[in-house]
Amino acid sequence: MSLTPLDAGGTTVGCAGEHPGFADPAYVRRRNLIAERAEGHPLGEPSPEVHYTDAEHATWRAVHGALLRAQDLWACREVLGARGVAPIPADGVPQHEEVSNRLQALTGFRFTLAGGIVANKRFLGAMAKGYFHAVQYVRHPAMPLYTPEPDVLHDVFGHGIHLADPFFADLYRTVGRAAARVETADALDLISRVYWFTLEYGTVLEQRRPRAYGAALLSSYGELGRFAQADLRPFDLAELVRMPYQVAGYQPILFTVQSLAHLADLLHGFLDGFDESTRDRYRLPVLSERGFMARPPTR
Ligand SMILES: [Fe+2]
Repeated sequence: MSLTPLDAGGTTVGCAGEHPGFADPAYVRRRNLIAERAEGHPLGEPSPEVHYTDAEHATWRAVHGALLRAQDLWACREVLGARGVAPIPADGVPQHEEVSNRLQALTGFRFTLAGGIVANKRFLGAMAKGYFHAVQYVRHPAMPLYTPEPDVLHDVFGHGIHLADPFFADLYRTVGRAAARVETADALDLISRVYWFTLEYGTVLEQRRPRAYGAALLSSYGELGRFAQADLRPFDLAELVRMPYQVAGYQPILFTVQSLAHLADLLHGFLDGFDESTRDRYRLPVLSERGFMARPPTR
């Protein structure tokens, strides 16, 4: 899945010990070479072209086949409809600009370059302007069906599907507008937590059966096959914001909405009037003071 949006500040993404790539110096060099180009990259400027290797294209193709089959089984119907128009080539890793040009024509969104975790204010706030921070590097080929950090496959197979669809694009903008209105870490943490348990890890009931709509689930073959066995709970804002993130590995607790119309009502209801006083009005905890991840892992 893609790195979750959380606080930046040099946080290491995921659990290095679990990632086969961190024991492979050649992979680390390649990943960092691609990621470093995001440093200082202006929001909305075209992403540089990446000359992907044959091995990286092969990883893409392996994931493409497996993931589409898993999505057919476990994704909700709205996601499968969006996938039909999303920029997901079968033959190899697409360039950011190819993806962006397609998304822009569909919903006005574009990818903007990220090198890993992006600070909440920038990551979430950019969505109000129609930009989604996305990385370009590819997961390690030894474990193509799972990655503890967001990579280009997470961003395209998860967020790229969402952002091809006006319904989901509106929800991203709703998150972005709320983030753009606030400045404190606590308010931004609150929004990022709602984002995490909905647009990254959300599930929805379809004929009383759980189906995935969150980007992290959609882009993880392993999680698509297992999320229905997770502790699925009805969407509850007060409970959700108290839930610690599970950064690496599978999410043990997920929240379920009755329908995507229900999701839209919930997000608009909470975020449209969101400001620095929202936490107090809802009597929600001060996250940083209660020891919740000050830096929840993103993606
Ligand atoms: Fe993501």
